[in-house]
Amino acid sequence: MLSKKIAKALNGQINAEIYSSYMYLSMSAWFEQAGLAGFANWMLQQAREEMSHAMKFFHFVSERGGRVLLEKIAQPPTDWKSALDVFEATLAHERKVTGLINDLTNLALDERDHATNIFLQWFISEQVEEEAGVGAVLDKLKLIGKDTSGLFALDQELGRRLFTPPPAG
Ligand code: FEO
Repeated sequence: MLSKKIAKALNGQINAEIYSSYMYLSMSAWFEQAGLAGFANWMLQQAREEMSHAMKFFHFVSERGGRVLLEKIAQPPTDWKSALDVFEATLAHERKVTGLINDLTNLALDERDHATNIFLQWFISEQVEEEAGVGAVLDKLKLIGKDTSGLFALDQELGRRLFTPPPAG
């Protein structure tokens, strides 16, 4: 059984993950209108992945006898200056999410909630991968600079990303 404090914190994380999904969808829409369909696809896959993170928390709260309480989702930003600007915002956002996961883990340890602690280990590793993946695209964008052909080559590459949801259970 989850303590009230942990249930509230996990519900907060459901909101944060759905917000992440919403923000990446907004970024996907921005890339679409900028004519960068591959970047738009990358962000769409990212949005799908974030929703799967939200659902992991959703099912975990229920499984542990907690009550899922969905809250209002904040409006995400809608405009960015460039692809570089979008990916800088993405890396900053993922670093913030890493901080949230670390705070949740500290709370689980303080409350001696071992099951929640084990559950969160997956997210700790996932955040390392997320930051590395976003950082890799950001590094390429910095190398590309104002070279349009480089940008289109990267667009092709990002167009191949496909998020495969992990098996249920
Ligand atoms: Fe669900 Fe990108 O962290």
